[in-house]
Amino acid sequence: MGCRLQALPVSNLLIIFISYFALIVSSQDNGAPFSFGARLLEPCNPPVMTANATGKHRIGIRRETLSFDNRQLNVSWWYPGTPASGSKPHVASGGIYGQAVRDAPLDRSNGPYPLIVFSPGVGARDDSYYFYCQNLASHGYTVVSINHLDSTQMKGGGISATAMMQAAIYMLQNNSSYTVWLLFSNWFRSTHFALTYRPQEIDFVLSKAIAANTDPSSPFFGAIDTENIGLTGHSLGAFYTLLKGGGFAINCDFPLTAKESDVNNTVLTEVNICAWPEAKRLNNPKALHNSRIKAIVPLAAPVFIKPSEVPRGASSIETPMLIMTGNDPKFESTIEPQQQIFDAAKGPKYMVQIRETDHMMISEAYHFNKNFSAGLPSFLATNQPTANTQNFTEKAQIYMEYSAAFFDVYLKKNVSSKEKLRTKSSDFVAKQQYFG
Ligand SMILES: *[C@@H]1O[C@H](CO)[C@@H](O)[C@H](O)[C@H]1NC(C)=O
Ligand SMILES: *[C@@H]1O[C@H](CO)[C@@H](O)[C@H](O)[C@H]1NC(C)=O
Ligand SMILES: *[C@@H]1O[C@H](CO)[C@@H](O)[C@H](O)[C@H]1NC(C)=O
Ligand SMILES: *[C@@H]1O[C@H](CO)[C@@H](O)[C@H](O)[C@H]1NC(C)=O
Ligand SMILES: *[C@@H]1O[C@H](CO)[C@@H](O)[C@H](O)[C@H]1NC(C)=O
Ligand SMILES: *[C@@H]1O[C@H](CO)[C@@H](O)[C@H](O)[C@H]1NC(C)=O
Ligand SMILES: *[C@@H]1O[C@H](CO)[C@@H](O)[C@H](O)[C@H]1NC(C)=O
Ligand SMILES: *[C@@H]1O[C@H](CO)[C@@H](O)[C@H](O)[C@H]1NC(C)=O
Repeated sequence: MGCRLQALPVSNLLIIFISYFALIVSSQDNGAPFSFGARLLEPCNPPVMTANATGKHRIGIRRETLSFDNRQLNVSWWYPGTPASGSKPHVASGGIYGQAVRDAPLDRSNGPYPLIVFSPGVGARDDSYYFYCQNLASHGYTVVSINHLDSTQMKGGGISATAMMQAAIYMLQNNSSYTVWLLFSNWFRSTHFALTYRPQEIDFVLSKAIAANTDPSSPFFGAIDTENIGLTGHSLGAFYTLLKGGGFAINCDFPLTAKESDVNNTVLTEVNICAWPEAKRLNNPKALHNSRIKAIVPLAAPVFIKPSEVPRGASSIETPMLIMTGNDPKFESTIEPQQQIFDAAKGPKYMVQIRETDHMMISEAYHFNKNFSAGLPSFLATNQPTANTQNFTEKAQIYMEYSAAFFDVYLKKNVSSKEKLRTKSSDFVAKQQYFG
């Protein structure tokens, strides 16, 4: 067994059992093998069924290989579809399946559909957020999820003893975002906190998706509402969601200390983002902002900005924003900077914290994968509270309800969905805030 089956309710166990023997799911066909960065992982076998979508549309998924910067860049399109009856759901690379049917014809009945770009966490695959992406499609959105450079290239390891000790100290202080930043400091150093490729990949995929709408040879010809574009992402993807979609400002108008400007500093968390040429050279602090983006959902963002600069950077955010995050103090991104971002943003803004929820719950491909946590340093991987592994369906429901209601209000202009955003929908909502 490649997966933590004990985390699933009995009904799901039955489904898995039945599906294994009746082969009701389509064979895995996802391009590259499943991995976390360059580290190969065994996909769940038999495949695990994720949470059901809550929207009225049935769902299609198409995989496409684009070419960017002289390399392959894979994306998945999730969209309202009309699958033939009896078609088998697509099994994503991590051995997860839901309701999306590979290459199903587009359902044009309620189009054109607003575009939502999804940017995964560092090392994570584009198809490893199955319930979250398929759910938005079921509510009438065209979702494009990106397989970023790091999803196949990132390697861990090679961290100095000093950095490893500091990572453990951050963990004791419940400063988990800083722990992870240090654990992957080789990747973050060599890519300048991902400034060398993430903003470029997001812009590239966004422009490709917009172009598909006017390309008669694209299956999405005329089906995309390119005036109402959303950006959402998890973890590193959430940080770039804030920069690209939110207009979070990178202010570099102050002198850096020796440690802050030393790009070879072993403790990478001490290096200021303004030490990197990509930040230093920005024409203005909001130069990464893409003003076509009209609504953002950052899911558990770590913040690669000096803590004292976070409120000022976030005070530039004028894009409607919904922050969603788990509330586990050790195994989810640190809450404090996310709260500071909520507090400082201009609004409209919402923040929903989900009880007993860790960083990977939103990505079932890693949440249910045993090999994933087995490969992490033991102080990071062990001692998860049992509650974090339970009630997957109920927690997924919260991510689905609020994200769909939010995009409904700000991309489809359906103001009556505001009420849903202001209502506590479940006991698993630990804290809910809104303004505007
Ligand atoms: C992209 O997908 C193709 C299959 O469609 C696969 O062969 C290739 O390895 C993938 N490339 C990357 C960079 O993931
Ligand atoms: C999802 O829907 C299927 C029927 O389409 C049902 O069998 C299954 O129990 C549902 N799963 C959950 C977790 O509710
Ligand atoms: C960290 O969180 C744990 C709960 O997981 C709590 O018991 C502990 O007091 C917190 N430590 C600090 C330093 O805040
Ligand atoms: C995390 O660590 C950094 C660096 O020491 C510190 O500035 C920040 O305040 C810490 N955050 C929390 C929530 O402890
Ligand atoms: C950082 O280290 C690299 C490789 O050792 C070296 O080439 C570079 O000059 C160093 N940069 C600074 C600013 O010290
Ligand atoms: C992955 O996990 C399975 C189940 O625990 C284990 O048997 C297998 O050896 C692991 N594989 C790797 C490459 O870690
Ligand atoms: C959460 O999961 C536990 C363990 O499976 C179960 O006993 C409990 O009823 C679940 N809570 C809810 C609200 O579904
Ligand atoms: C607008 O939102 C409300 C509440 O979420 C929903 O009942 C209604 O169907 C939506 N209207 C449209 C046109 O989608």
